[in-house]
Amino acid sequence: MLASKKNAVNIVQLYMHQNLRNMLQILSDGKHHSEALLGNKLELTRSAIWKLVKQLKRYGIDITTSTNLGYKIPGGLELLNKKDIAAHLSQEFDDYNNKIIVHDSLPSTNSYLAELIKTNGYENSICFAEHQTAGKGRLGRNWISPYAKSIYLSLAWQFSKSPYELSGLGLVMAIATVTALKTCGIEKDIALKWPNDVLWRKKKLGGILVELFGEAPHIYHAIIGVGLNVNIPQGAGKKITQPWCDITQITNSSFSRNKLAGVLLNQLLMSLANYQNTGLKPFIKKWHKLDASYGKKVTIITPQQTVSGIGAGIDDNGYFLLEDKQKTIHAFASAEVSLSI
Ligand code: BTN
Repeated sequence: MLASKKNAVNIVQLYMHQNLRNMLQILSDGKHHSEALLGNKLELTRSAIWKLVKQLKRYGIDITTSTNLGYKIPGGLELLNKKDIAAHLSQEFDDYNNKIIVHDSLPSTNSYLAELIKTNGYENSICFAEHQTAGKGRLGRNWISPYAKSIYLSLAWQFSKSPYELSGLGLVMAIATVTALKTCGIEKDIALKWPNDVLWRKKKLGGILVELFGEAPHIYHAIIGVGLNVNIPQGAGKKITQPWCDITQITNSSFSRNKLAGVLLNQLLMSLANYQNTGLKPFIKKWHKLDASYGKKVTIITPQQTVSGIGAGIDDNGYFLLEDKQKTIHAFASAEVSLSI
């Protein structure tokens, strides 16, 4: 049962101290700022400035120091703001403008929305964070989430469908993410790997994590989390345990995170509205066009078995299809897909 009373959300929100925010605002231009100048602007001692720098580094923010010139964030930072994100929403989603929350730091945007639903009752909600301390990936993996260098977005959505009927939701959200990238001019060599990986030249650019919560027989809340690498700093990149890439590598230039966040949100909302009415069927063709494993050699690993064969796309439920040597088609609801292309 969900509580209907509005209570404080019982989850750690890691608020940045105002001094830290102010300092970040100054350094976000990517230029050098001397300790003395920062001290003057923020009315703080040099040692207080040094302590703030140390704290910023704990958020995974790359800050360089030069004895003569001071501190600098190489490449600068574009912080997310609601107004710039909302500017990219179609008119039909005007109602969602005031549902957007942007946090500095959360353990995980998915966990935050789950807690929000439990505490305040159900509402469609949208949450971005600049940083996650315990970002969640599929199959219990971590999602490395450095400050202001990627998109971490979660949406809470209510469906009047059973979990079985929602088995294609993650795939639809992955297609929506690719469509958003295309709208931003990023299209070449982008593909999808079942069930939730957005790839560029076989390297992971983003991922989707869908979590379902039931309430009544046919009412389900979905929390849809999307992570998209924009400009991962070297230090954070070293912690990622699979081949990865980011938008800066693809475009060879800096990219507006607010634009990407707004276009992505708009596309996810559009696809959710469609999926709610039509289910997975109208999306299957699009999936097959983007499917990195279609007609390729694949190995499927489940807790019970490992099967090799040829990727044969997805069925109407969004299950992965594999054709074995005997031309028999096997369907998998949940598994690890390893591609050998
Ligand atoms: C995966 O590819 O394994 C899924 C990654 C999903 C990451 C996003 S980031 C925003 C949201 N919050 C989380 O904790 N995870 C998702």
